[in-house]
Amino acid sequence: MKNIAQIIGLLVLLCANNSFAAAGAGPIFHMNVDTGNQKSLQRGAKTFVNYCLSCHEASYSRYNRVAADLGISEANMRDNMIFTDKKIGETMTVAMTAEQGKEWFGVTPPDLSVKARSRGADWIYSFLKSFYLDEKAARGINNKMLAGTSMPHVLWELQGFQKLKGDDQHADESHADDGHGGGDHSPFVLAVDGQLSAAEYDRTITDLVNFLVYLSEPAQLQRKSVGIGVLFFLFTLGVFAYFLKKEYWKDIH
Ligand code: HEC
Repeated sequence: MKNIAQIIGLLVLLCANNSFAAAGAGPIFHMNVDTGNQKSLQRGAKTFVNYCLSCHEASYSRYNRVAADLGISEANMRDNMIFTDKKIGETMTVAMTAEQGKEWFGVTPPDLSVKARSRGADWIYSFLKSFYLDEKAARGINNKMLAGTSMPHVLWELQGFQKLKGDDQHADESHADDGHGGGDHSPFVLAVDGQLSAAEYDRTITDLVNFLVYLSEPAQLQRKSVGIGVLFFLFTLGVFAYFLKKEYWKDIH
């Protein structure tokens, strides 16, 4: 019996180890997903089409579906969020072919439609917060979540550039506690200011990841409201059932 318990324990440990190895480093930062916040989804969609859609596609999504789900008018979508000659009923794909992507970046930028499901919101959030200056990296920029990544730090204008804490002994440590990069437990310190403060940058990428979570399962917005409706229905039914039961048993007691 004891042996069996030991074997099971060992198996559990092995599985846990394997899943860690497959997932790589766990997310460094955490965000609260709130796909019920339509304003946040709208802001996220705007950041997505401006900063991500040039390389990554979301080929399972159509502009008009996103517009309808997020309460964006079709005219607004057409005028402000579609930068190509695409029609509103078309999918959110990019002009760059997979081959070109591979040629330019070494890796084809992956489709982001369901990325939030495969990687998880915290991972993507951490990824977008973890670009740092690294002289040893091919392009001078590395990422703590995806070492040696070929994705450029496309949000650098907003965030600025950060570097690893303690990377440069002569660094101006006065930045260390100003909240940039996420506070004390953050492995980063800001080296070059961006347009946004740290809090604003965090909010921007929170909105963006929120949007990616929505994108990975557009039906979740409806599912949630249907779910609430069903619960309400069951509750009402429960009340009726209770009184009916009382009525039926009245004469027996
Ligand atoms: C200039 C092109 C380019 C732009 C713009 C771009 N990316 Fe990327 N992205 C890449 C490339 C190339 C990779 C593959 C990186 C690798 O595997 O090393 C990548 C990888 C990723 C990954 C990791 C996928 C995975 O699971 O390995 C995520 C998440 C991601 N990008 C999100 C974004 C978001 C969000 C934006 C918009 C803010 C964005 N990207 C803008 C080129 C780009």
